[in-house]
Amino acid sequence: MAVHKSWLCLIVVLAIMSCKKRTTSICSNDIALFSFSNFPIGAAVDDLLLQNDSNYQKVFTKQFNSATAENIFKPAYLHPEENLYNWADADELITFCRNNNMRVHGHTLIWHQQNPAWMNEFQGSKAEWEAMMKLHIVSIVRYYSHRIFSWDVVNEAFNEDGSLRDNIWLQHIGPSYIEKAFKYAHEANPEAKLFYNDYGLETNPTKLNAVIRFFNTLKLKGVTIDGIGLQMHINIKYSQSNMIEQVIQAVANQNYLVHLSEVDISLNPLSKEYQLNDKDLEAQAQLMAKIVRTYKNIPKHLQFGITFWGISDNYSWIRSYFNRVDYPLLFDENFKPKPIYCNLIDAL
Ligand code: XIL
Repeated sequence: MAVHKSWLCLIVVLAIMSCKKRTTSICSNDIALFSFSNFPIGAAVDDLLLQNDSNYQKVFTKQFNSATAENIFKPAYLHPEENLYNWADADELITFCRNNNMRVHGHTLIWHQQNPAWMNEFQGSKAEWEAMMKLHIVSIVRYYSHRIFSWDVVNEAFNEDGSLRDNIWLQHIGPSYIEKAFKYAHEANPEAKLFYNDYGLETNPTKLNAVIRFFNTLKLKGVTIDGIGLQMHINIKYSQSNMIEQVIQAVANQNYLVHLSEVDISLNPLSKEYQLNDKDLEAQAQLMAKIVRTYKNIPKHLQFGITFWGISDNYSWIRSYFNRVDYPLLFDENFKPKPIYCNLIDAL
C-alpha cells in the first residue's frame, strides 16, 4: 500500500511538472538568440541584477548582442547634481557590455520623468534653460563619444492627440527644445545615431503622424535625426490587427532607422486577476512572430535592432511599475525560454 501511495505521488508530481513545462520551455536556448538574426537583438539591463543574479547575467550575456541601460543613463542617475555626473556605474555597465561584445544604446537624454530635483527646479531665463540643457546633453554625449554611438535624444515628447507634452523643457524653452536637443547631441558627437523614442506610436496613428510630420520638418531644416524608436509596450490584443506591422513599414517608408526599442507584450493589460494560460502565451508568441517578419521586410539599412525591455518576467518593469500580474518577456522567472522566445527564433 505504501509503495502504491508513493507511485501516486510521483505521478502527480510529474503531471504538475509537465503542465508547467507546457507553458514555459518548449525550445532549446542553447544557441544565442542574436546568432539567428541579421540585426542586433537587445535587452534593457539593470546593473544591480547583473551583479546579484548569476542566471540573469548568464542569459543576458549569452542571448543578446545589444544593451540599453534600463535606468542608469537617465538624468536622475547620470546627472544627479548640476555640477556632478555619476559616470562610475554607467562606465562599469558599458565596460561589461563591451567586454561581452554588445552594442550599447544610450537611453535617454531629455525626458519628463526620472529627472533630478535640481533639473526640475532649475531657475533661469529661457537662454539659461537652453544653456543648461545644452551642457547636460553635450557633457554626456561627448564623454561617451567613443563608446556610445546611438542615443534616444528625446523621449516621449508627444501626447496621444499629437500635441507636444507639457514638460519642463516645453515650459521653459518652448517647442524648439526638441530641435535644439538634436542639434546639441549632433554637435557633441557627429558620428552618433540620434533617435526620437516614444510609446503608443505603434497603435495610435494620430500620434505617429504628428511625430513623423514634426521630424520630417526638422530634417528638411537640416537637423540630424536618424531614427525613430517604437517602444512597443504592447499587449496580445494586437494580434488581432495588422496595425503594428503597418506602422513599422510606415516609419521605414519615411527613411528613418527603426528601433523596436522597449518591446514587451503584456498578457494582462487591464490589470485583472490573472491566471497564466497556454492560449495567451501562444497569442503572445504569434504576435511576436508577426512583428519580426514585418521587421525583417523593411530595408536592411533601416533595421537598427529589436530591444526587449527586460529579460525575465519576474523582473519586468510592468510588474513593479503597474503593480500587476503579467508575463510580458521572453523568459520565465526561472530563465526558461517561453513560447514567445521560440517563435522569435523561428521568425528571425
Ligand atoms: C522604466 C524602467 O523600466 C523602470 O525600472 C523605471 O522605474 C521607470 O522607467 N518608457 C521608457 C523607459 O522610455 O525608460 C521606462 O523604463 C519604461 C517606459
